[in-house]
Amino acid sequence: MDARRGLLDMADRQHEASDMTALSRRAVLLGGLGLAGAGVLAGCSVGSGGAAATGSRTLGQASAATPSPGQRVVTATLTPKPVTLDLGGTTVQTWAYGDSAPGRLLRARAGDMLRVTVDNRLPTETSVHWHGIRLANAADGVPGVTQDPIAAGARYVYEFTAPDPGTYFFHPHTGVQLDRGLYAPLIIDDPADPGRYDADWVVVLDDWVDGTGRTPDDVLRELTASAGSGSSGGMGGMGGMGGMGGMGGMGGMGGGSMGMGPAPFGDPGDVAYPHYLVNGRTPADPPSFAAKPGQRVRIRFINAASDTIFSVALGGHRMTLTHTDGYAVRASSAAALYIGMGERYDVTVTLSDGVFPLVAAPFGKAGRALAVVRTGSGSAPPADAHPAELDGPVLLGSELRPASSALLPARSVDATAQVALNGQMRPYRWGINGAPFGENTPITVKAGQRLRLNLRNMTMMAHPVHLHGHTFALADTGLRKDTVLLRPMESRAVDLDADNAGDWALHCHNIYHAEAGMMSLLKYA
Ligand code: C2O
Ligand code: CU
Repeated sequence: MDARRGLLDMADRQHEASDMTALSRRAVLLGGLGLAGAGVLAGCSVGSGGAAATGSRTLGQASAATPSPGQRVVTATLTPKPVTLDLGGTTVQTWAYGDSAPGRLLRARAGDMLRVTVDNRLPTETSVHWHGIRLANAADGVPGVTQDPIAAGARYVYEFTAPDPGTYFFHPHTGVQLDRGLYAPLIIDDPADPGRYDADWVVVLDDWVDGTGRTPDDVLRELTASAGSGSSGGMGGMGGMGGMGGMGGMGGMGGGSMGMGPAPFGDPGDVAYPHYLVNGRTPADPPSFAAKPGQRVRIRFINAASDTIFSVALGGHRMTLTHTDGYAVRASSAAALYIGMGERYDVTVTLSDGVFPLVAAPFGKAGRALAVVRTGSGSAPPADAHPAELDGPVLLGSELRPASSALLPARSVDATAQVALNGQMRPYRWGINGAPFGENTPITVKAGQRLRLNLRNMTMMAHPVHLHGHTFALADTGLRKDTVLLRPMESRAVDLDADNAGDWALHCHNIYHAEAGMMSLLKYA
Protein backbone atom coordinates (compact mmCIF):
# COMPACT_ATOMS: atom_id res chain seq x y z
CA MET A 1 0.00 0.00 0.00
CA ASP A 2 3.03 2.26 0.00
CA ALA A 3 2.56 2.92 -3.64
CA ARG A 4 -0.99 3.97 -3.02
CA ARG A 5 0.11 6.21 -0.20
CA GLY A 6 2.55 7.89 -2.55
CA LEU A 7 -0.16 8.63 -5.02
CA LEU A 8 -2.43 9.99 -2.36
CA ASP A 9 0.35 12.28 -1.19
CA MET A 10 0.76 13.44 -4.72
CA ALA A 11 -2.93 14.07 -4.93
CA ASP A 12 -2.83 16.11 -1.78
CA ARG A 13 -0.02 18.25 -3.07
CA GLN A 14 -1.90 18.85 -6.26
CA HIS A 15 -4.90 19.86 -4.36
CA GLU A 16 -2.97 22.29 -2.24
CA ALA A 17 -1.51 23.74 -5.37
CA SER A 18 -4.89 24.20 -6.91
CA ASP A 19 -6.86 25.10 -3.84
CA MET A 20 -9.27 22.24 -4.29
CA THR A 21 -8.63 20.24 -1.16
CA ALA A 22 -12.24 19.33 -0.69
CA LEU A 23 -12.77 17.87 -4.08
CA SER A 24 -11.00 14.62 -4.47
CA ARG A 25 -8.50 12.39 -2.87
CA ARG A 26 -6.74 11.39 -6.01
CA ALA A 27 -4.37 12.52 -8.63
CA VAL A 28 -5.93 13.10 -11.97
CA LEU A 29 -3.49 13.01 -14.78
CA LEU A 30 -4.01 14.52 -18.15
CA GLY A 31 -1.05 12.91 -19.81
CA GLY A 32 0.87 15.37 -21.88
CA LEU A 33 -0.55 18.31 -20.06
CA GLY A 34 1.81 17.76 -17.20
CA LEU A 35 1.53 16.06 -13.89
CA ALA A 36 1.59 18.98 -11.57
CA GLY A 37 -1.78 20.46 -11.61
CA ALA A 38 -2.13 21.53 -15.20
CA GLY A 39 -5.12 19.28 -15.53
CA VAL A 40 -6.33 19.58 -12.02
CA LEU A 41 -8.63 22.46 -11.77
CA ALA A 42 -6.05 25.13 -11.76
CA GLY A 43 -8.05 28.17 -12.60
CA CYS A 44 -11.17 26.99 -10.93
CA SER A 45 -11.96 28.07 -7.47
CA VAL A 46 -14.64 27.07 -5.09
CA GLY A 47 -16.53 29.71 -3.28
CA SER A 48 -20.04 30.75 -2.72
CA GLY A 49 -21.78 33.58 -4.39
CA GLY A 50 -19.69 36.43 -5.68
CA ALA A 51 -19.91 36.01 -9.39
CA ALA A 52 -17.34 38.05 -11.20
CA ALA A 53 -18.67 41.30 -12.50
CA THR A 54 -19.16 40.96 -16.18
CA GLY A 55 -19.82 43.55 -18.78
CA SER A 56 -22.72 42.18 -20.71
CA ARG A 57 -23.73 39.55 -18.28
CA THR A 58 -26.35 37.07 -19.23
CA LEU A 59 -27.42 34.38 -16.86
CA GLY A 60 -27.83 30.80 -17.89
CA GLN A 61 -31.07 30.53 -16.06
CA ALA A 62 -32.52 32.71 -13.42
CA SER A 63 -34.20 29.92 -11.53
CA ALA A 64 -30.96 27.99 -11.23
CA ALA A 65 -28.81 30.99 -10.52
CA THR A 66 -29.19 30.99 -6.77
CA PRO A 67 -27.45 28.14 -5.01
CA SER A 68 -29.65 26.36 -2.54
CA PRO A 69 -28.58 26.55 1.10
CA GLY A 70 -25.37 24.63 1.59
CA GLN A 71 -24.83 24.04 -2.10
CA ARG A 72 -21.22 24.43 -3.17
CA VAL A 73 -20.45 26.62 -6.13
CA VAL A 74 -17.56 25.78 -8.44
CA THR A 75 -16.51 28.72 -10.54
CA ALA A 76 -14.35 28.74 -13.63
CA THR A 77 -13.61 30.96 -16.58
CA LEU A 78 -13.29 29.71 -20.13
CA THR A 79 -11.48 31.81 -22.67
CA PRO A 80 -12.11 30.58 -26.18
CA LYS A 81 -9.47 32.29 -28.30
CA PRO A 82 -7.11 31.87 -31.24
CA VAL A 83 -3.90 30.11 -30.20
CA THR A 84 -0.87 28.44 -31.65
CA LEU A 85 -0.54 24.89 -30.38
CA ASP A 86 2.26 22.37 -30.60
CA LEU A 87 0.58 19.01 -31.14
CA GLY A 88 3.93 17.21 -30.89
CA GLY A 89 6.11 18.00 -33.86
CA THR A 90 3.29 19.84 -35.60
CA THR A 91 2.39 23.42 -34.87
CA VAL A 92 -1.07 24.66 -35.73
CA GLN A 93 -3.09 27.83 -35.52
CA THR A 94 -6.40 26.98 -33.95
CA TRP A 95 -9.01 27.99 -31.41
CA ALA A 96 -8.94 26.59 -27.90
CA TYR A 97 -10.18 27.17 -24.35
CA GLY A 98 -7.10 28.90 -22.96
CA ASP A 99 -3.69 27.71 -24.07
CA SER A 100 -4.23 24.01 -24.61
CA ALA A 101 -6.44 21.49 -26.32
CA PRO A 102 -8.11 19.81 -24.60
CA GLY A 103 -8.83 22.72 -22.27
CA ARG A 104 -8.29 22.33 -18.56
CA LEU A 105 -10.21 19.68 -16.73
CA LEU A 106 -13.26 21.08 -14.98
CA ARG A 107 -14.22 19.09 -11.93
CA ALA A 108 -16.96 19.28 -9.33
CA ARG A 109 -19.00 17.06 -7.03
CA ALA A 110 -22.45 15.76 -7.77
CA GLY A 111 -24.93 18.36 -6.56
CA ASP A 112 -22.56 21.30 -6.95
CA MET A 113 -23.50 24.37 -8.87
CA LEU A 114 -21.13 25.25 -11.68
CA ARG A 115 -20.78 28.90 -12.53
CA VAL A 116 -18.70 29.19 -15.67
CA THR A 117 -17.95 32.52 -17.29
CA VAL A 118 -17.22 32.36 -20.98
CA ASP A 119 -15.03 35.22 -22.14
CA ASN A 120 -15.34 34.96 -25.90
CA ARG A 121 -12.14 36.17 -27.53
CA LEU A 122 -12.81 34.39 -30.80
CA PRO A 123 -13.37 36.49 -33.91
CA THR A 124 -16.85 35.01 -34.10
CA GLU A 125 -19.78 33.91 -31.95
CA THR A 126 -19.71 30.75 -29.86
CA SER A 127 -21.57 28.79 -27.14
CA VAL A 128 -20.78 26.05 -24.64
CA HIS A 129 -22.72 22.81 -24.30
CA TRP A 130 -22.22 20.61 -21.23
CA HIS A 131 -22.42 17.25 -22.92
CA GLY A 132 -24.28 14.63 -20.90
CA ILE A 133 -25.21 16.81 -17.93
CA ARG A 134 -28.86 16.67 -16.87
CA LEU A 135 -28.99 20.42 -16.37
CA ALA A 136 -31.56 23.18 -16.53
CA ASN A 137 -32.51 23.78 -20.16
CA ALA A 138 -31.50 27.44 -20.25
CA ALA A 139 -27.87 26.51 -19.54
CA ASP A 140 -27.71 23.85 -22.25
CA GLY A 141 -25.77 26.04 -24.66
CA VAL A 142 -27.61 25.60 -27.97
CA PRO A 143 -27.87 28.92 -29.83
CA GLY A 144 -31.22 29.45 -31.43
CA VAL A 145 -32.78 26.91 -29.06
CA THR A 146 -31.78 27.73 -25.49
CA GLN A 147 -29.87 31.00 -25.81
CA ASP A 148 -28.58 33.60 -28.20
CA PRO A 149 -25.05 33.00 -29.42
CA ILE A 150 -22.25 34.57 -27.38
CA ALA A 151 -21.03 37.33 -29.67
CA ALA A 152 -17.36 37.89 -30.41
CA GLY A 153 -15.93 39.84 -27.49
CA ALA A 154 -18.90 39.17 -25.21
CA ARG A 155 -19.13 37.37 -21.89
CA TYR A 156 -21.74 34.88 -20.84
CA VAL A 157 -22.26 33.08 -17.56
CA TYR A 158 -23.53 29.50 -17.42
CA GLU A 159 -24.98 28.47 -14.09
CA PHE A 160 -26.29 25.00 -13.50
CA THR A 161 -26.37 22.19 -11.00
CA ALA A 162 -24.63 18.99 -12.04
CA PRO A 163 -26.75 16.33 -10.37
CA ASP A 164 -25.12 13.11 -11.54
CA PRO A 165 -21.55 11.87 -11.09
CA GLY A 166 -19.62 10.76 -14.13
CA THR A 167 -17.33 11.55 -17.02
CA TYR A 168 -18.52 14.34 -19.32
CA PHE A 169 -17.06 17.02 -21.55
CA PHE A 170 -17.97 20.37 -22.98
CA HIS A 171 -17.70 21.98 -26.37
CA PRO A 172 -19.33 24.70 -28.50
CA HIS A 173 -22.70 24.06 -30.09
CA THR A 174 -21.93 26.51 -32.87
CA GLY A 175 -21.12 25.43 -36.39
CA VAL A 176 -18.26 22.96 -36.57
CA GLN A 177 -16.26 24.64 -33.79
CA LEU A 178 -16.03 21.32 -31.96
CA ASP A 179 -13.58 20.22 -34.66
CA ARG A 180 -11.17 22.95 -33.60
CA GLY A 181 -9.44 22.72 -30.23
CA LEU A 182 -12.56 23.80 -28.34
CA TYR A 183 -13.26 20.91 -25.97
CA ALA A 184 -12.36 19.91 -22.44
CA PRO A 185 -13.18 17.16 -19.95
CA LEU A 186 -15.73 17.65 -17.19
CA ILE A 187 -15.73 15.21 -14.27
CA ILE A 188 -18.45 15.11 -11.66
CA ASP A 189 -17.29 13.15 -8.63
CA ASP A 190 -19.51 11.02 -6.48
CA PRO A 191 -18.80 11.93 -2.85
CA ALA A 192 -20.13 8.52 -1.85
CA ASP A 193 -17.95 6.55 -4.28
CA PRO A 194 -15.07 4.83 -2.52
CA GLY A 195 -13.26 4.54 -5.85
CA ARG A 196 -11.18 1.43 -5.60
CA TYR A 197 -8.28 2.57 -7.71
CA ASP A 198 -4.91 4.22 -7.25
CA ALA A 199 -5.01 6.83 -9.99
CA ASP A 200 -7.54 8.49 -12.23
CA TRP A 201 -6.49 9.21 -15.81
CA VAL A 202 -8.36 11.21 -18.41
CA VAL A 203 -7.84 10.21 -22.04
CA VAL A 204 -9.46 12.58 -24.54
CA LEU A 205 -9.43 11.39 -28.15
CA ASP A 206 -9.63 13.69 -31.14
CA ASP A 207 -9.30 13.81 -34.91
CA TRP A 208 -7.39 16.89 -36.01
CA VAL A 209 -7.41 18.99 -39.17
CA ASP A 210 -7.48 22.62 -38.06
CA GLY A 211 -4.42 24.64 -39.00
CA THR A 212 -3.01 21.97 -41.32
CA GLY A 213 -3.96 23.88 -44.45
CA ARG A 214 -7.70 23.89 -43.92
CA THR A 215 -10.13 24.64 -41.15
CA PRO A 216 -13.20 22.63 -40.19
CA ASP A 217 -15.28 25.27 -41.97
CA ASP A 218 -13.29 24.53 -45.15
CA VAL A 219 -13.95 20.83 -44.64
CA LEU A 220 -17.67 21.41 -44.32
CA ARG A 221 -17.63 23.55 -47.47
CA GLU A 222 -15.79 20.81 -49.35
CA LEU A 223 -18.27 18.21 -48.20
CA THR A 224 -21.31 20.22 -49.15
CA ALA A 225 -19.76 21.49 -52.40
CA SER A 226 -18.77 18.06 -53.68
CA ALA A 227 -22.45 17.52 -53.96
CA GLY A 228 -22.46 15.61 -57.18
CA SER A 229 -25.89 15.58 -58.62
CA GLY A 230 -27.15 12.90 -56.33
CA SER A 231 -30.04 10.75 -57.21
CA SER A 232 -32.58 11.89 -54.78
CA GLY A 233 -33.10 15.59 -55.34
CA GLY A 234 -33.51 17.25 -52.01
CA MET A 235 -34.79 15.40 -49.05
CA GLY A 236 -37.06 13.18 -51.03
CA GLY A 237 -34.81 10.23 -50.57
CA MET A 238 -34.70 10.77 -46.89
CA GLY A 239 -37.92 9.19 -46.02
CA GLY A 240 -37.02 5.81 -47.33
CA MET A 241 -33.86 3.86 -47.55
CA GLY A 242 -31.76 6.86 -48.45
CA GLY A 243 -28.45 5.93 -47.15
CA MET A 244 -25.99 6.25 -49.95
CA GLY A 245 -23.36 6.92 -47.37
CA GLY A 246 -21.65 3.71 -48.28
CA MET A 247 -20.84 4.86 -51.79
CA GLY A 248 -17.18 5.36 -52.39
CA GLY A 249 -15.77 8.38 -54.02
CA MET A 250 -16.36 10.72 -51.15
CA GLY A 251 -13.88 13.45 -51.77
CA GLY A 252 -12.65 13.75 -48.27
CA MET A 253 -12.76 10.16 -47.27
CA GLY A 254 -10.02 8.55 -45.29
CA GLY A 255 -7.09 7.06 -47.05
CA GLY A 256 -6.88 4.16 -44.69
CA SER A 257 -7.69 0.59 -45.40
CA MET A 258 -10.30 -0.98 -43.23
CA GLY A 259 -7.96 -3.72 -42.15
CA MET A 260 -10.11 -4.71 -39.20
CA GLY A 261 -12.03 -7.70 -40.37
CA PRO A 262 -15.76 -7.22 -40.47
CA ALA A 263 -16.74 -3.60 -40.74
CA PRO A 264 -19.36 -3.04 -38.08
CA PHE A 265 -19.75 0.61 -39.00
CA GLY A 266 -19.79 0.52 -42.79
CA ASP A 267 -18.56 3.78 -44.20
CA PRO A 268 -15.68 4.89 -41.99
CA GLY A 269 -16.41 8.60 -41.96
CA ASP A 270 -16.40 11.61 -44.21
CA VAL A 271 -13.08 13.24 -43.43
CA ALA A 272 -9.47 12.10 -43.74
CA TYR A 273 -7.63 13.67 -40.84
CA PRO A 274 -3.91 14.30 -40.90
CA HIS A 275 -3.66 13.69 -37.14
CA TYR A 276 -5.29 11.71 -34.35
CA LEU A 277 -4.63 12.87 -30.83
CA VAL A 278 -4.65 11.72 -27.24
CA ASN A 279 -4.87 14.73 -24.94
CA GLY A 280 -3.81 17.04 -27.72
CA ARG A 281 -0.67 15.12 -28.73
CA THR A 282 0.28 13.21 -31.86
CA PRO A 283 2.08 9.85 -31.68
CA ALA A 284 5.30 11.67 -32.61
CA ASP A 285 5.44 13.02 -29.05
CA PRO A 286 2.78 11.17 -27.14
CA PRO A 287 1.50 11.96 -23.66
CA SER A 288 2.66 9.58 -20.99
CA PHE A 289 1.08 8.27 -17.83
CA ALA A 290 3.18 6.90 -15.00
CA ALA A 291 2.18 4.45 -12.28
CA LYS A 292 3.63 1.51 -10.40
CA PRO A 293 3.31 -2.13 -11.36
CA GLY A 294 0.27 -3.72 -9.76
CA GLN A 295 -1.56 -0.46 -9.34
CA ARG A 296 -5.13 -0.21 -10.42
CA VAL A 297 -6.00 2.84 -12.47
CA ARG A 298 -9.27 4.27 -13.63
CA ILE A 299 -9.10 5.50 -17.20
CA ARG A 300 -11.83 7.84 -18.44
CA PHE A 301 -12.04 7.77 -22.22
CA ILE A 302 -13.79 10.67 -23.93
CA ASN A 303 -14.20 10.71 -27.72
CA ALA A 304 -14.19 14.41 -28.62
CA ALA A 305 -13.61 13.68 -32.31
CA SER A 306 -15.94 15.09 -34.94
CA ASP A 307 -15.98 12.29 -37.52
CA THR A 308 -14.04 9.36 -36.07
CA ILE A 309 -14.99 6.23 -34.18
CA PHE A 310 -11.98 4.84 -32.34
CA SER A 311 -11.14 1.38 -31.10
CA VAL A 312 -8.95 1.61 -28.02
CA ALA A 313 -6.69 -0.88 -26.31
CA LEU A 314 -3.87 -0.88 -23.80
CA GLY A 315 -1.15 -3.24 -25.01
CA GLY A 316 -0.69 -6.27 -22.77
CA HIS A 317 -3.79 -5.59 -20.68
CA ARG A 318 -7.49 -6.22 -20.48
CA MET A 319 -9.77 -3.44 -19.33
CA THR A 320 -12.69 -3.74 -16.94
CA LEU A 321 -15.51 -1.48 -18.07
CA THR A 322 -17.23 0.22 -15.16
CA HIS A 323 -19.23 3.17 -16.56
CA THR A 324 -20.49 4.62 -19.78
CA ASP A 325 -21.81 8.15 -20.23
CA GLY A 326 -21.66 8.62 -16.45
CA TYR A 327 -23.70 5.54 -15.49
CA ALA A 328 -22.43 2.30 -13.96
CA VAL A 329 -22.39 -0.88 -15.99
CA ARG A 330 -22.17 -4.44 -14.81
CA ALA A 331 -18.38 -4.83 -14.73
CA SER A 332 -17.26 -6.48 -17.88
CA SER A 333 -13.86 -7.19 -19.31
CA ALA A 334 -12.58 -6.42 -22.80
CA ALA A 335 -9.27 -6.30 -24.62
CA ALA A 336 -10.46 -3.50 -26.88
CA LEU A 337 -13.49 -1.31 -27.22
CA TYR A 338 -15.13 1.03 -29.73
CA ILE A 339 -15.88 4.60 -28.75
CA GLY A 340 -18.17 6.71 -30.90
CA MET A 341 -18.06 10.49 -31.04
CA GLY A 342 -19.54 11.94 -27.86
CA GLU A 343 -19.40 8.64 -25.94
CA ARG A 344 -17.48 8.18 -22.71
CA TYR A 345 -16.26 4.96 -21.14
CA ASP A 346 -14.60 4.49 -17.77
CA VAL A 347 -12.46 1.42 -17.29
CA THR A 348 -10.16 0.11 -14.61
CA VAL A 349 -6.93 -1.68 -15.37
CA THR A 350 -4.43 -3.43 -13.11
CA LEU A 351 -1.06 -2.52 -14.56
CA SER A 352 1.78 -4.88 -15.37
CA ASP A 353 5.45 -3.97 -15.16
CA GLY A 354 6.88 -2.23 -18.19
CA VAL A 355 6.05 0.30 -20.88
CA PHE A 356 2.81 -0.09 -22.81
CA PRO A 357 1.12 1.61 -25.76
CA LEU A 358 -2.36 2.96 -25.15
CA VAL A 359 -3.66 3.12 -28.70
CA ALA A 360 -6.80 4.61 -30.22
CA ALA A 361 -7.15 3.38 -33.79
CA PRO A 362 -9.49 5.46 -35.97
CA PHE A 363 -12.04 3.11 -37.44
CA GLY A 364 -11.47 2.62 -41.15
CA LYS A 365 -8.92 5.40 -41.41
CA ALA A 366 -5.15 5.47 -41.53
CA GLY A 367 -3.24 6.71 -38.51
CA ARG A 368 -3.15 6.31 -34.77
CA ALA A 369 -3.62 8.16 -31.56
CA LEU A 370 -1.16 7.08 -28.91
CA ALA A 371 -0.31 7.51 -25.26
CA VAL A 372 2.36 5.70 -23.29
CA VAL A 373 1.73 3.97 -19.97
CA ARG A 374 4.90 3.50 -17.99
CA THR A 375 5.25 1.44 -14.83
CA GLY A 376 8.83 0.27 -15.31
CA SER A 377 11.82 0.62 -17.53
CA GLY A 378 11.85 0.00 -21.23
CA SER A 379 11.87 1.89 -24.46
CA ALA A 380 8.87 3.84 -25.66
CA PRO A 381 6.56 2.13 -28.12
CA PRO A 382 6.87 3.24 -31.76
CA ALA A 383 4.51 5.88 -33.11
CA ASP A 384 2.68 3.22 -35.10
CA ALA A 385 2.35 0.76 -32.22
CA HIS A 386 -0.35 -1.77 -32.90
CA PRO A 387 -1.22 -3.84 -29.84
CA ALA A 388 -2.49 -7.33 -30.62
CA GLU A 389 -5.59 -6.51 -28.56
CA LEU A 390 -6.86 -4.44 -31.50
CA ASP A 391 -6.94 -7.52 -33.74
CA GLY A 392 -9.24 -9.57 -31.56
CA PRO A 393 -12.87 -8.91 -30.71
CA VAL A 394 -13.64 -5.26 -30.02
CA LEU A 395 -16.45 -4.57 -27.61
CA LEU A 396 -19.32 -2.39 -28.80
CA GLY A 397 -20.56 -0.38 -25.85
CA SER A 398 -24.23 -1.03 -26.47
CA GLU A 399 -23.53 -4.70 -25.66
CA LEU A 400 -22.82 -3.78 -22.04
CA ARG A 401 -25.37 -4.43 -19.33
CA PRO A 402 -26.38 -1.79 -16.81
CA ALA A 403 -25.55 -1.99 -13.13
CA SER A 404 -28.75 -2.26 -11.13
CA SER A 405 -28.09 1.22 -9.71
CA ALA A 406 -28.31 2.61 -13.24
CA LEU A 407 -31.72 1.22 -14.18
CA LEU A 408 -34.66 3.45 -14.89
CA PRO A 409 -37.52 2.62 -12.54
CA ALA A 410 -39.73 -0.10 -14.01
CA ARG A 411 -42.84 1.34 -15.61
CA SER A 412 -44.67 1.11 -18.87
CA VAL A 413 -44.13 3.34 -21.87
CA ASP A 414 -46.70 6.15 -22.19
CA ALA A 415 -45.76 7.52 -25.58
CA THR A 416 -43.66 6.54 -28.57
CA ALA A 417 -41.93 8.69 -31.18
CA GLN A 418 -40.14 7.77 -34.38
CA VAL A 419 -36.64 9.07 -35.04
CA ALA A 420 -35.41 8.08 -38.50
CA LEU A 421 -31.86 9.08 -39.41
CA ASN A 422 -31.66 9.89 -43.09
CA GLY A 423 -29.14 11.14 -45.56
CA GLN A 424 -26.27 10.50 -47.84
CA MET A 425 -22.89 11.78 -48.90
CA ARG A 426 -23.87 13.02 -52.38
CA PRO A 427 -25.35 15.46 -52.17
CA TYR A 428 -24.13 15.96 -48.62
CA ARG A 429 -27.42 16.09 -46.78
CA TRP A 430 -28.41 14.61 -43.48
CA GLY A 431 -31.63 14.84 -41.59
CA ILE A 432 -34.07 13.36 -39.11
CA ASN A 433 -37.53 12.17 -40.04
CA GLY A 434 -37.08 13.17 -43.65
CA ALA A 435 -35.83 16.71 -43.30
CA PRO A 436 -32.87 18.68 -42.00
CA PHE A 437 -33.00 20.56 -38.70
CA GLY A 438 -35.20 23.59 -39.02
CA GLU A 439 -37.50 21.83 -41.47
CA ASN A 440 -38.27 18.72 -39.44
CA THR A 441 -40.92 18.58 -36.75
CA PRO A 442 -39.79 18.58 -33.14
CA ILE A 443 -40.68 15.54 -31.07
CA THR A 444 -43.05 16.31 -28.24
CA VAL A 445 -44.07 14.51 -25.10
CA LYS A 446 -46.01 15.41 -21.96
CA ALA A 447 -43.99 16.13 -18.84
CA GLY A 448 -43.93 13.10 -16.59
CA GLN A 449 -44.36 10.57 -19.35
CA ARG A 450 -42.11 7.65 -20.11
CA LEU A 451 -41.19 8.17 -23.75
CA ARG A 452 -39.90 5.56 -26.15
CA LEU A 453 -37.84 6.79 -29.09
CA ASN A 454 -37.61 4.34 -31.97
CA LEU A 455 -34.24 5.27 -33.43
CA ARG A 456 -33.84 3.94 -36.95
CA ASN A 457 -30.65 4.42 -38.91
CA MET A 458 -31.76 4.49 -42.56
CA THR A 459 -28.26 5.13 -43.89
CA MET A 460 -25.12 3.16 -44.64
CA MET A 461 -23.08 5.03 -42.05
CA ALA A 462 -22.86 4.70 -38.30
CA HIS A 463 -24.26 7.63 -36.31
CA PRO A 464 -23.72 8.34 -32.61
CA VAL A 465 -27.13 9.67 -31.55
CA HIS A 466 -26.97 12.12 -28.65
CA LEU A 467 -29.84 13.56 -26.63
CA HIS A 468 -29.32 16.60 -24.45
CA GLY A 469 -30.51 16.88 -20.86
CA HIS A 470 -31.40 13.20 -20.36
CA THR A 471 -29.80 9.80 -20.10
CA PHE A 472 -31.99 7.27 -21.86
CA ALA A 473 -32.13 3.51 -21.33
CA LEU A 474 -31.67 1.07 -24.20
CA ALA A 475 -35.06 -0.62 -24.33
CA ASP A 476 -33.68 -4.15 -24.66
CA THR A 477 -31.20 -4.13 -21.78
CA GLY A 478 -31.76 -0.95 -19.79
CA LEU A 479 -28.19 0.26 -20.39
CA ARG A 480 -28.08 3.99 -19.68
CA LYS A 481 -26.54 6.19 -22.36
CA ASP A 482 -26.78 9.75 -23.60
CA THR A 483 -24.97 8.90 -26.83
CA VAL A 484 -25.60 5.61 -28.58
CA LEU A 485 -23.82 4.43 -31.68
CA LEU A 486 -26.18 3.08 -34.32
CA ARG A 487 -24.62 0.91 -37.00
CA PRO A 488 -25.72 1.23 -40.64
CA MET A 489 -29.42 0.35 -40.95
CA GLU A 490 -29.62 -0.53 -37.25
CA SER A 491 -32.79 0.18 -35.29
CA ARG A 492 -32.84 0.62 -31.56
CA ALA A 493 -35.52 1.71 -29.12
CA VAL A 494 -34.53 3.86 -26.17
CA ASP A 495 -36.66 4.97 -23.22
CA LEU A 496 -36.51 8.10 -21.15
CA ASP A 497 -38.50 9.84 -18.47
CA ALA A 498 -39.67 13.32 -19.45
CA ASP A 499 -38.55 14.85 -16.16
CA ASN A 500 -36.47 17.79 -17.33
CA ALA A 501 -38.65 20.21 -19.24
CA GLY A 502 -37.26 22.25 -22.09
CA ASP A 503 -36.23 22.20 -25.71
CA TRP A 504 -33.54 19.56 -26.07
CA ALA A 505 -31.31 18.90 -29.04
CA LEU A 506 -31.32 15.35 -30.42
CA HIS A 507 -28.64 14.87 -33.03
CA CYS A 508 -25.88 12.89 -34.58
CA HIS A 509 -22.56 13.58 -32.87
CA ASN A 510 -20.74 13.52 -36.17
CA ILE A 511 -20.43 17.29 -36.15
CA TYR A 512 -20.54 17.50 -39.95
CA HIS A 513 -23.74 15.48 -40.04
CA ALA A 514 -25.27 17.57 -37.28
CA GLU A 515 -24.31 20.79 -39.02
CA ALA A 516 -25.68 19.47 -42.31
CA GLY A 517 -29.04 18.85 -40.65
CA MET A 518 -29.03 15.59 -38.70
CA MET A 519 -30.63 17.14 -35.66
CA SER A 520 -34.07 17.57 -34.20
CA LEU A 521 -35.55 18.66 -30.89
CA LEU A 522 -37.36 16.95 -28.06
CA LYS A 523 -39.69 19.54 -26.52
CA TYR A 524 -41.93 19.58 -23.50
CA ALA A 525 -42.98 22.08 -20.90
CU1 C2O B 1 -21.83 16.99 -27.49
CU2 C2O B 1 -25.36 18.46 -28.87
O1 C2O B 1 -23.57 17.74 -28.21
CU1 CU C 1 -24.13 10.97 -38.33
